[in-house]
Formats: sequence, structure tokens, C-alpha cells
Amino acid sequence: MLLLSVAIVCVLSAVQCNPDLDAFKWHGVVPDVLSQLPEQLLKITYDNRLMIMCGDIVTPTQVKNIPTVEWAADPDTYYTLAMVDPDAPSRSNHKLREFKHWLVVNIPGNNVAKGDAIAEYVGAGPPKDTGLHRYVLLLYSQPKKLTFSGSRVSNKSRRSRPKFHIKQFADHHRLGQPIAGTLFLAEYDEYVPILNKQLSSGQ
Ligand SMILES: *[C@@H]1O[C@H](CO)[C@@H](O)[C@H](O)[C@H]1NC(C)=O
Repeated sequence: MLLLSVAIVCVLSAVQCNPDLDAFKWHGVVPDVLSQLPEQLLKITYDNRLMIMCGDIVTPTQVKNIPTVEWAADPDTYYTLAMVDPDAPSRSNHKLREFKHWLVVNIPGNNVAKGDAIAEYVGAGPPKDTGLHRYVLLLYSQPKKLTFSGSRVSNKSRRSRPKFHIKQFADHHRLGQPIAGTLFLAEYDEYVPILNKQLSSGQ
């Protein structure tokens, strides 16, 4: 009985504390990227001062550096972290959906730097005149350590970034539903040409 009431209180408070997760629905991330809402909000901070509120509008300049991601991690669990843009090259013409901005697997506990970066972080780079793009950050708890045989992509390359599908990736690796997530919106600014140059500079 006690356990049951504790469980009910947790469920209620989780819902009450995270009304912002509804932004996943308002902005159509469910169903465009996910079939259901993540369980919790993911805490993302850029440059130690810009904390993302789910659904925020930011500029590419503000999110150019790799953010800090915080969650209540189990030190004995591996996690997968992803950031995708379903609006490539634009929300109405999304033939490159999703663009993979970041994908790290086998993160031990919450030590993102110790994970296996399949795709190194690159910030938002929405093309000029394509309006606001949605950037979705998701965290999955892995049932076990993944064996990933594909190649890695650095932050100097676009290779294998377009036409990625995080839901398919999660299904394929049996990651289940994301345990946490957040999203922000951004449109073109003067950082985008700098990022484009970087993405064409390596492999
Ligand atoms: C690209 O990634 C490397 C690590 O592989 C990092 O040292 C560098 O700062 C990154 N560059 C940018 C512009 O994010």
C-alpha cells in the first residue's frame, strides 16, 4: 500500500513538474520523430549559462558549442544520447529528415565524454530562409553495452548525417522509449556559414 502510494505520488509529480514536455506535441515532434513523449525533461545547458527550456527559440550562435547534459544516472547503466533535426532542409520539405547532429552510445553513467561518439556534436545549421527548425535531444537507457560496427563521423563532416531516424536506431538496438528529452527551435543566423565550412573540411 505504501509502495503503491509512493508510486502514484511520483507519477503525479513527474507530470506536474514537466508540463513543458507537451511542447513535443505542440511542435509535432510526436509524431514526426517519436511515437510517444519522453518520460522526463532532459537538462541541457550551453556554455554554462544558457539552460534550454523545452520549446525555446535560440540562435545557432548560442548552441554552437557542445552542451552540458545532466540527468539522474545509474552509474552501472549505459546511455545513448542523440540530437536530431527533423526539418532538413526545411519543415515543409523534409526530404533529408532527420539530420543527425549528435549521437553518443555506451555512455557510462552520466559521463558523456567517456561515451562512444558515433557522430560528434555539431550545432544547429538551418539554411537561410527555411524558417524555424526543431532540434530534438533524447536520452535512452541501454539494456546492455552496444556493439556498434558502423563508422564514426567527426564534427568536420556531413557523412551519414542526413536521413537518419532515431526511432529506427532505438528500435534496432532495443533501446525502448527515450527516458528523457527536450527540444529547441532555431533559424538561420550568421554562424551557419561558419558551420557549413567546418562540415566540409574533413571526413
Ligand atoms: C570538434 O571535435 C573535437 C574533438 O574531436 C573538439 O576538440 C573540437 O573542439 C570540436 N570543434 C568544434 C568546432 O566543435
